[in-house]
Amino acid sequence: MDVQGKAAIVTGGASGLGEATARALAKAGAKVTVIDLKAEAALKVAGEIGGLGLACDITDGPATEAAIKTAREKHGPARILVNCAGVATGARVINRDGPAPLDGFARTVAINLVGTFNTMRLCAWDMSTLEPLADGERGFILNTSSIAAFEGQIGQCAYSSSKSGVAALTLPAARELAKFGVRVLCIAPGLFATPMMFGLPPEVQESLGSKTPFPQRLGRPEEFAALVMTMAGNVMLNGEVVRLDGGVRLEPK
Ligand SMILES: NC(=O)c1ccc[n+]([C@@H]2O[C@H](COP(=O)([O-])OP(=O)(O)OC[C@H]3O[C@@H](n4cnc5c(N)ncnc54)[C@H](O)[C@@H]3O)[C@@H](O)[C@H]2O)c1
Repeated sequence: MDVQGKAAIVTGGASGLGEATARALAKAGAKVTVIDLKAEAALKVAGEIGGLGLACDITDGPATEAAIKTAREKHGPARILVNCAGVATGARVINRDGPAPLDGFARTVAINLVGTFNTMRLCAWDMSTLEPLADGERGFILNTSSIAAFEGQIGQCAYSSSKSGVAALTLPAARELAKFGVRVLCIAPGLFATPMMFGLPPEVQESLGSKTPFPQRLGRPEEFAALVMTMAGNVMLNGEVVRLDGGVRLEPK
């Protein structure tokens, strides 16, 4: 799809991988709506790229419906959805004090997996109503998993479960939406330098970066955005989960 002039929605667009993607889409001429829990940051990024910024919790069905309606009224139904909203959580199954609290697990799955499905179902409906473009394409959906979906570390049961769910829904969603000309793709990033990662001590960040075989550093958000743009532009790519990780494989801890 040529993204020029097309309406796009980026969740988690106020920070990190989503922000870089929102900027890349806007630079290529897309009309971008940034959806994020962080209202001020969403407005700031949107203001800088000439887009629309909306505060919304993607786990809230009616609030997300309202945000997508606002985006539709401003830019028309979105042909592009990039889901980057997510949280990195850590908790062992059991620790010294007893079993892990259940609500932590449920919350991680609610944001990373149910939230992704929530925006996908709403945007896919909008896309199905649009006129087809060249090749019969109506829409492009990109969801963000993680390499932790495949080799989760100790303490990552919730995160890995949520991200493997995101990876797993790629094919059934792509198969179902194929008849509408809507593609569904997924990126599983390795270790990227974003505010999510900046929460870790500098020596841990450096150590994580040096574990990547090549290049021996953390990924740059712009490198994630560049892959999203390539995927958007290549209509033959569909139903696939692509690792973007410099060849790294996570160790048990
Ligand atoms: N940074 C990495 O190394 C890395 C690696 C693998 C996967 N990922 C995934 O990439 C995605 C983007 O991560 P990032 O590194 O850019 O993190 P980030 O923290 O910089 O950005 C995530 C954004 O999502 C927003 N968000 C969180 N919960 C939300 C909710 N309920 N509703 C709306 N917005 C919400 C946050 O406010 C934040 O702006 C996440 O899904 C993350 O799990 C990141």
